[in-house]
Amino acid sequence: MMEADILIENCSEIHTLKGPDRPRRGDEMQDTSKIKNGALAVKGESILAVGSDKEIKRDVEAEKIIDASGKTVIPGFVDPHTHLIYSGSREDELAMKIQGKTYMEILEEGGGILRTVRATRKASKQRLLEESKARMDRMLAHGTTTAEAKSGYGLDKKNEIKCLEVIDELDKSHDLDLIPTYLGAHSLPPEFERSEDYIDYCIEDVLPEIADKDLAEYCDVFCEKGVFDVEESRRLLKKAKQFGLKARVHADEIENIGCSKMAAELDAISAEHLVKTDEEDIIMMAESGTIGILLPGTPFMLMEEKYAPARQMIENGMAIALATDLNPNCWTESMQMVITLACLQMKMTPSEALTAATFNSARALDRPDIGSLEKGKKADFLVLDIPNIDHLPYRFGVNLVEKVYKRGEKV
Ligand code: NIG
Ligand code: FE
Repeated sequence: MMEADILIENCSEIHTLKGPDRPRRGDEMQDTSKIKNGALAVKGESILAVGSDKEIKRDVEAEKIIDASGKTVIPGFVDPHTHLIYSGSREDELAMKIQGKTYMEILEEGGGILRTVRATRKASKQRLLEESKARMDRMLAHGTTTAEAKSGYGLDKKNEIKCLEVIDELDKSHDLDLIPTYLGAHSLPPEFERSEDYIDYCIEDVLPEIADKDLAEYCDVFCEKGVFDVEESRRLLKKAKQFGLKARVHADEIENIGCSKMAAELDAISAEHLVKTDEEDIIMMAESGTIGILLPGTPFMLMEEKYAPARQMIENGMAIALATDLNPNCWTESMQMVITLACLQMKMTPSEALTAATFNSARALDRPDIGSLEKGKKADFLVLDIPNIDHLPYRFGVNLVEKVYKRGEKV
């Protein structure tokens, strides 16, 4: 008999996502390694055993037994693209967008990112902590157990470091784990006239200090027409690599200027957004191993018709993950909502979307110990109040998460 702390029994379905330890592609995305009538045992912070209810009950004795009849168990969601740290909101810009203004027009008029930069620079560390923590509480309640968090609303050294320090404090004090990304190249700050000069500043002044203080694992750049071009982006990401920061890229969001190709050439861990990505880019990313992170909440909030070509990516064997893009332009903490949009707008199946929101998103953050429910992996999992996974995109706009377990503890 094995001794467990917790046994979750009589589960209608467990989607373990068990399988080879590399991003899932093509048909593999459809296979979530489902167990019908399953049970899951937890010991300490890890998974002790998972299998059929009969098997597990025969082999495991537990201190605490939880009945999950009619419920579905899945790994905790991993959200690999968020702009978690910001102050304020921009709800009035949604009203403008409804009346026909575009995102880029609002940005050019000093709204958008730069407006949030002003608010974030003004905010004290304490205030940023409080505003961001409220979002983390909602993320966790909606089933996200690990998330990436980008800086990028400070832009200058002092404020970017302030934001990254906030990420570090929140990671240490909150149940939700955060993985920090330096996104200094999110927008040209008002104190610079030329983007190449600002990139020099990021490379010479900011990156060394971030690396020295070990404040970021990744470096990201908003590679976009009118923001930072391919050459500037490549220059920054190459330097970041020398400082030990791995590359990820905002690519092909509004226009395709060759950013996802550059991401593939650089062997970036991920290229993110990819709304305007074409087949040639897809083939390059599939070959390089760069994971595509799709953010269907963004075109949804921009009221655009076009979404990332997820089907074409899956058919070409490119690994894809899903994320919220949580930011003042696309304010959602819910990976469940993202799954609904992925299925309805990008025609992903519920199983593919689940793979993309758990296993593949963990790989897009280089975290092999999460994203699947297997012996020895971290016990980060959700009990959903639904009898099967097809309910996940189907019952939209409400929270289907009944229980969240982080490192073996109910939170
Ligand atoms: O990923 N595209 C750049 N950055 C964010 C939006 C940031 C903002 O509007 O504040 C994004 O969509
Ligand atoms: Fe983003």
